[in-house]
Amino acid sequence: ASSAMTDPFGRRISYLRVSVTDRCDLRCFYCMSEDMTFLPKADLLTLEELDRLCSAFIAKGVTKLRLTGGEPLVRRNVMGLVRSLSRHLKTGALKELTLTTNGSLLSKYAAELADCGVKRINVSLDTLDPAKFRTITRWGDLNKVLAGIDAAQAAGLAVKINAVALKNMNEDEIPSLIEWAHGRDMALTLIEVMPMGDIGEGRIDQYVPLSMLRTRLAQQFTMTDLPDDTGGPARYVRVAETGGKIGFITPMTHNFCESCNRVRITCTGTIHTCLGHEDASDLRKPLRASESNELLNATIDRAIGLKPKGHDFIIDRRHNRPSVSRHMSVTGG
Ligand code: GTP
Ligand code: 5AD
Ligand code: SF4
Repeated sequence: ASSAMTDPFGRRISYLRVSVTDRCDLRCFYCMSEDMTFLPKADLLTLEELDRLCSAFIAKGVTKLRLTGGEPLVRRNVMGLVRSLSRHLKTGALKELTLTTNGSLLSKYAAELADCGVKRINVSLDTLDPAKFRTITRWGDLNKVLAGIDAAQAAGLAVKINAVALKNMNEDEIPSLIEWAHGRDMALTLIEVMPMGDIGEGRIDQYVPLSMLRTRLAQQFTMTDLPDDTGGPARYVRVAETGGKIGFITPMTHNFCESCNRVRITCTGTIHTCLGHEDASDLRKPLRASESNELLNATIDRAIGLKPKGHDFIIDRRHNRPSVSRHMSVTGG
């Protein structure tokens, strides 16, 4: 039989983030290098294997599941996986099935996602300026993302926008992003850039501490702290002028690891128990070794037993080295 997952620091693991592909149709400059090498297709778990892996975690007490990437919607037949996983919503074992997407394929998939029981999604969008969007993503078309967001809302999905705060890039635009998002009934979460993966340029040139941004925002918006009860890394405020919510994700300036409830698995079946650590265990081998989940469950328990207390991120001014060598696109943020 399987047992619930609690790590050595007493943190209950109830949230699984699954990176279904390391590939993406964009190349955000803080996420990937221009000439990224992707994982060989032969290393990927099949969608059936991903389903079995997710289901094993659900049997062990995971109640929230988020598909990420890379870009989850570029994985062939990913909707087959969503459809299949939605059976756990029907039994009540899973409380939430959701995804984090760059939005560019949402026009195509929004209605089907809603039909599968997805209620809300997170869309990554750092700017509303088409030229800046092209610079950040290296070739992305902003209009496709905006159309995708329209489609998601039309399908009844709640949308949250994630924006990475980027020095000399979208810093000045944050107030207008907030007004735009709130005007469309969407929360907006700001994220500090994290030093993951060799992206061929220095993080210090990108990094803006959110404490600084928040001070600037306070001159324009009246922000009231909301209770910290989401279990996630974001700390939310309500903005009096717009009625909307802003989230702040501050791994670099304020550590939220003590309440961490999550682990991540990649499309090759590797479990990462902390985003900000090299720590990894292989689940593909035990998954493939047997049709029964005995060995798999034991391997998951062992991995959870190694979950670090917190992340190791530092932005190193002198050496241009990432704290964690794997790219965000492998682990899915
Ligand atoms: P909600 O369900 O809306 O709370 O989503 P979420 O914040 O868990 O997920 P989302 O994919 O929107 O995450 C936004 C970003 O927050 C991620 O891409 C990461 O950059 C960051 N993040 C999420 N979880 C962690 C974490 O455990 N540690 C760190 N350092 N960053 C995290
Ligand atoms: N630091 C912070 N956030 C990042 N993302 C990608 N790379 C980084 C990074 N180095 C964000 C994306 C998206 C989420 C999945 O992760 O913008 O919102
Ligand atoms: Fe793709 Fe997201 Fe990375 Fe941008 S941040 S390249 S959209 S995976």
